[in-house]
Amino acid sequence: MSLQAPLTSLYETATENRVGGHAVNRLAAAQSLLADDLRAIDEAIRCLAGSGPRPATDAALHLNGGGGKRVRPIAVLLSAACFGPISQVARDLAAVAELIHLATLLHDDVLDDADERRGRETSRRVWGNAVSVLSGDLLLTHALGETQRVAPGETLSDLIATLQQLVSGEVVQLRGRRSLDVTEAIYFQIVEDKTASLFSWATRAGARVGGGDSEQIAALGRYGKHLGVAFQLVDDALDYVGEAAAIGKGLHADLMQGKLTLPLTIAVRKRPKAMGDVLLARNGDEAAALRVVGAVAETGACDEVRKRAQHETGEAMAALDTIPAGVARDLLAAVAADLVKRLM
Ligand code: FPP
Ligand code: MG
Repeated sequence: MSLQAPLTSLYETATENRVGGHAVNRLAAAQSLLADDLRAIDEAIRCLAGSGPRPATDAALHLNGGGGKRVRPIAVLLSAACFGPISQVARDLAAVAELIHLATLLHDDVLDDADERRGRETSRRVWGNAVSVLSGDLLLTHALGETQRVAPGETLSDLIATLQQLVSGEVVQLRGRRSLDVTEAIYFQIVEDKTASLFSWATRAGARVGGGDSEQIAALGRYGKHLGVAFQLVDDALDYVGEAAAIGKGLHADLMQGKLTLPLTIAVRKRPKAMGDVLLARNGDEAAALRVVGAVAETGACDEVRKRAQHETGEAMAALDTIPAGVARDLLAAVAADLVKRLM
């Protein structure tokens, strides 16, 4: 089916369906419109994640088996679909986006000593840190090999630059755990590097192989960047105000791991005395952690984060102005609009 056409009745049906009085969310609409593509991509991911020596492949398949919303593959597919039918190269790059994401999560859970991901034990808990790191490395080599095979040249060099950005974001974040001077500016730099960079690569890659011109590729890259920042803002707020069952990992992990995310930075700006408890929480003092969580709630920090996320999604939607009108563009806008609703 072509996703370039103006809003179709199928899309209207998918987005206007109501479950329990709520409009079905648009990510689900995108997932259902792209169901055939996503099934093929899931198969490719499983195949590549299972290629190589055990137990590295076990660790990768375990993480992949936990599910995931496939937001990055969807970003590649919809960006390509803005310009024409979805090609096999676009599907291959959609799988690459998820493989990179999985690789970063395997590494990230080691860096963060995380026990739970996607509602199940992290791979590092089952197979240990060494296997988890090597499993991430293996996925990374598969992702680079696939990109070299289907889109050498600009898409590959763009991916390598993106990987450098990802690592840089993690290193700066790690530095912040030892100091207390993570300003909002540094926070946003970390978020742009560690999260938004991959979203932005995904949308640029989709637009490039879909046939967008250089201005449109850059515009979709901006869309991806703002979407990625909004995504991380929501994730960081949910660490304080979410429900563990819904987010598939323990609450307040950022605080205990010493991450000065935006909710905490805002709370401490409004109530500087809370910093003493932040330091105690970092050292495992659970009573202090609860006081910090209370300070985040009382200062309304997460409302400010929600407003920032709304601003980012507005910027993401504005970036779509030069993209041809059609279902794919509408879905990109709708996915951005719905993201912040997780915080309502
Ligand atoms: C999740 O953040 C982690 C990331 C968005 C990026 C992780 C990147 C690396 C470890 C860089 C190196 C890896 C490779 C393969 C190049 P989070 O900890 O805030 O989110 P979480 O709560 O879901 O863990
Ligand atoms: Mg983490």
